[in-house]
Amino acid sequence: MANDTLSVTDNRTGKKFELKIENGCIRAMDLRQMKTDAEDFGLMTYDPAFMNTANCKSAITFIDGDKGILEYRGYPIDQLAEKSSHLETSYLLMNGELPSKAQLEEFTTKITHHTYVHENIKQFMDGFRYDAHPMSMLASTVAALSSFYPEAKQVKNKEVRRNQMMRLIAKMPTLAAFSYRHSQGLPYIYPNNDLSYTENFLTMVKSIGKPNWRPHPALVRALDVLFILHADHEQNCSTTSVRVVGSSEVDPYSAVAAGITALYGPLHGGANEAVLRMLREIGDKKNVPEFIKKVKDKDGDKKLMGFGHRVYKNYDPRAKVIKKACDEVFEVTGKNPLLDIAVELERIALQDEYFVQRKLYPNVDFYSGLIYEAMGFPMEFFTCLFAIPRTVGWVTQFEEMITDNEQKIARPRQIFTGPRKRDYVMLDKR
Ligand code: CMC
Repeated sequence: MANDTLSVTDNRTGKKFELKIENGCIRAMDLRQMKTDAEDFGLMTYDPAFMNTANCKSAITFIDGDKGILEYRGYPIDQLAEKSSHLETSYLLMNGELPSKAQLEEFTTKITHHTYVHENIKQFMDGFRYDAHPMSMLASTVAALSSFYPEAKQVKNKEVRRNQMMRLIAKMPTLAAFSYRHSQGLPYIYPNNDLSYTENFLTMVKSIGKPNWRPHPALVRALDVLFILHADHEQNCSTTSVRVVGSSEVDPYSAVAAGITALYGPLHGGANEAVLRMLREIGDKKNVPEFIKKVKDKDGDKKLMGFGHRVYKNYDPRAKVIKKACDEVFEVTGKNPLLDIAVELERIALQDEYFVQRKLYPNVDFYSGLIYEAMGFPMEFFTCLFAIPRTVGWVTQFEEMITDNEQKIARPRQIFTGPRKRDYVMLDKR
């Protein structure tokens, strides 16, 4: 008997089956041959929240959650964070290899030349209420971009598809900055193509009344590092949303808009906003033990935000890099007073049986909010700061999905638990 197989006996029928094991997986469709009789649909798997289901083969990002390893195209995240830039990392993710100098220059020029958005987008933005959440504005305007580029529907055409991918990466900072300016009641600042990707973004967000104003280089570098850390994270909730929506062969703007809305939720990209709210609620280092007690109380509904991860059962490697970046940022901005509470929370949680047993460690969001706040971003804007760099991950995963011959329109099965065939009852008889 071959070693790379799984022998199964269906005790309902006594029949034996041999299923092929490939890449540590059996194919769920191989179970369908197991039937109780000819009428039976065949065995399925039940896996709410995809806890143990691989939805695709991917060559982009590798994670070993137990060991705390994250690699983009084989390059460890800490090396990229230390030595690369967000645009170089974007090239790597999209193309599989680090660029040559000439390739990087060409890529940077292309991105830079797509940073402007159609003037109508400004009117679109103006339609939002003064207090609209910037993520709502970002999701809507990204979805609206498909109406400006009708050719984006040609998802199977590599040249057309790549053009939209570049546009999305290039325009996301502009749209995010516009949504920020709108929520602050400030005039929109147009992109400056002489600046780097991240410097241009910070300038569009922050510049007021001084055309030559530039952000502090240390803050530009720190934000660029945060962008690298957030660029991709394999099959997380928003990326899976992009793949599922994109599997209908809709244009990439619509698919990425779905990714943005998934990212908006507090259990995903919204967690860093939730971390800051939590730190404010705790208010002082001395209140940390009491708070931890509430988190552990099973009847309560408190979670330690910024802790725990579906995949990492070890220290999130991104959190390590961010903790270091905190020091560099605080040197320029002054220390965020909430840092002491965060450090104390981490110290106590990492020794506590509850967190140790469940392998709950700080994730990427535990410290990122502190940096964003120190840089002067309002909490509501934090998730946009995640969406900008994740765009390259979304579009790269979109392309991998659309060019994968094994992929079809995503369509899970269900276990039906409702009532069956009932006769309709007229309104006056109910
Ligand atoms: N605080 C307290 N207890 C927790 C936490 C937490 N943050 N996270 C998990 N647990 C407990 C959970 O109650 C459960 O306990 P028990 O076994 O007694 O029922 C156990 O740990 C396993 O948790 P789970 O809910 O089954 O784990 P999951 O894989 O479904 O959830 C998670 C992962 C990230 C949604 C969750 O850990 C969480 O809600 N964390 C807080 C929110 C957060 O920081 N999210 C950012 C994730 S990283 C960035 C991103 O992906 O966008």
